[in-house]
Amino acid sequence: MRIRIFDSKEECFEAAASVWVNYAIAHPTSIIGCCTGTTTGPIHQLVVEKYKKSPFDTSNLRTVNVDQFVTPNPCPKKLTMYHSMRPLYEGLGLDEEHGMLPSCTPEDPDAECEKYERKIQMLGGIGLQELGIGSDAHIGFCLPGTPFGKGMHVTRVSDKIVEDIRTAPQHGVDPSYGPFYGMTMGLKTVMHARFTFPITVGASKAQATYNAILGPVTEDVPASILQMHPNCLWYMDREAAEGIIGRVNPDGTIIK
Ligand code: GLP
Repeated sequence: MRIRIFDSKEECFEAAASVWVNYAIAHPTSIIGCCTGTTTGPIHQLVVEKYKKSPFDTSNLRTVNVDQFVTPNPCPKKLTMYHSMRPLYEGLGLDEEHGMLPSCTPEDPDAECEKYERKIQMLGGIGLQELGIGSDAHIGFCLPGTPFGKGMHVTRVSDKIVEDIRTAPQHGVDPSYGPFYGMTMGLKTVMHARFTFPITVGASKAQATYNAILGPVTEDVPASILQMHPNCLWYMDREAAEGIIGRVNPDGTIIK
């Protein structure tokens, strides 16, 4: 694992967007794994800005997502990550075949997970996997305790996500329509990506960042599995790096 610490969250996002764009330019037929959230949203915006300034070939580029909702039946609205991903899809001109999301209204969510994972494999696997990390070090919908060996699977979403489902303008769905489930890449899926690229900013991510990087590799800290990934680059700002500062060599490797 290599670490880079930036003075501010803005610098971190800017540099992360450059990693994304440079990967897309160098690997124009690859699959880039994406996340939704307050970390990756602004990064996607910067990716689109960079693309607009200096367009590159996106006609064979694909994206996949770490997670997607399963819309309960009945539910007044579709619960989908599409809303969060749309700026990137539209900005880069990715149609449904290229901006690939699992269906948010699958007849059989387990089968949809299998289909999505198979499709990723058939298309050559994930090249770069960007990762937002939760403040409890979760990845996608894989909360602490999720077995490392799981591939894409269906799981109950956290209380925090239920709150987002209630309050986020794009959702606004009453919790009484729950319980809510999501489909998520498993940590095994994430570990199969050729490059993993977690990004953490802000003091609320400091503990998770510390635990994942310097703590033991344990299912209680889902992102700690990344210590075992052969090509993991972790970008963070100084606030998220609070427990890491002083433990990073000049080449970005960690001093254990
Ligand atoms: C949510 C999403 C993840 C995301 C994570 C971090 O749980 N399901 O895909 O990576 O939270 O989000 P944020 O960057 O907003 O902290």
